[in-house]
This record gives sequence, C-alpha cells and structure tokens, in this order.
Amino acid sequence: MNTMEITKIVGALCGSLLVLMLIETGAGAILGTGEGGHHDHHENAYVIEVENAEEASEGVEVAEVPFEEVYAAADAAQGEKLFRACASCHKLEDGANGVGPHLFNLLDRDIGAVGGFAYSDVLATLEGGWTPENLNAFLAKPTEYAPGTKMSYRGMSDVEDRANLISYLAGIGG
Ligand code: HEC
Repeated sequence: MNTMEITKIVGALCGSLLVLMLIETGAGAILGTGEGGHHDHHENAYVIEVENAEEASEGVEVAEVPFEEVYAAADAAQGEKLFRACASCHKLEDGANGVGPHLFNLLDRDIGAVGGFAYSDVLATLEGGWTPENLNAFLAKPTEYAPGTKMSYRGMSDVEDRANLISYLAGIGG
C-alpha cells in the first residue's frame, strides 16, 4: 500500500461517516428523537418539547371548574367553621358593627352600604351589590378587588372554601 492508497481509503471512510452522520441528524431533526451527535439539532428538539409542555399546562388552567359550579355544590356547614377567620372583625347580627361592618343579610346588600360604618373610599364608591361572584372575587384577595380597602385580611385562596363560606353567609339574614 502506498501513501496514495491510504489517503483514498481514509477519504472514503470519512465520506461514508459523513453520510451516516447526516442521515442520523436528518432523521433526528424530523422525528425529534435522535440521541447523541449534533447538539444544535438536539437543542431545537428540546425547546419544542418544552413549548408543548407549557401549552399542555395552560390547557389545564383553562379547564378549571368555574365558580358557579363550585358554589352550586357548596357546603354551608363547612362555611360556618371558616367564618372563624372573619369573626374577630365581623358580627352577623343586624346593626352590630365591629372593626368591620356587620354581615347580616350580606347577599342582598349594596357594596359599602351599612349605615353608621366608616368605609374606605374604595368600598364606599364601588358599584353593585354583594353577589356570590363579587364576594368570591373580594374574598380571594381583598386588596386586589378593592385596592385601598381597610379590611386587613390577606384573602382565602381555596375556591371551595370561599364557596362554602359564601353559602353560609347567604343563610344569614331575613
Ligand atoms: C382584621 C379585620 C377583618 C377581618 C379578619 C375580615 N374583615 Fe371583612 N372587613 C373589615 C373591614 C375593616 C371592612 C371595611 C373595609 C373598607 O371599608 O374598606 C370589611 C369589609 C368587608 C365586607 C364588605 C361589607 C360591605 O358592607 O360592603 C365584606 C363582605 C367582608 N368584609 C367580609 C369578610 C369575610 C367573609 C371575612 C372572613 C373571610 C372578613 N371579612 C375578614 C375587616 C375585616
């Protein structure tokens, strides 16, 4: 074997290796499953998978049970226990204001409408009444629903808890 022959053999080997690598890379890029080899293609395949995972989790959020459905199945007896979180500031007897306004007949009331209670500007000026939906939003995060409210309560994060509590309050009144 002379140098020329060795060069040809090495050249042929390199050529077929290159073809193999191209085939593998191409197949990997198309199927998104290749292992080893060319890092740029594998990074692309990875990014696509992450995007799909994000879309999938967004789909789960969209499918969250709407408040109306949770409220329709609410348990007022559970809500009575949850009212402990409110009882230090709110009474349920008509006219009995404490740190907060009384909550008698709450579900029929306009927002910020209890006579003799000094509401914050935001609650005094909010339009509408205390529907279950409005209460759900307010109790989830009072400072977000009514920025500037003087109700210093950080919020009730569980939608089932809120539905149960609102169901209990709906039974208080005439
Ligand atoms: C630390 C005291 C405090 C706690 C705890 C508290 N609140 Fe309040 N709440 C207030 C005050 C003060 C206001 C008046 C807010 C304002 O004027 O901005 C208020 C206002 C309200 C209003 C509006 C009433 C109206 O007449 O428009 C509702 C409804 C309410 N609270 C429900 C609750 C519920 C339900 C809980 C328990 C999950 C709770 N609050 C916990 C102090 C409290």
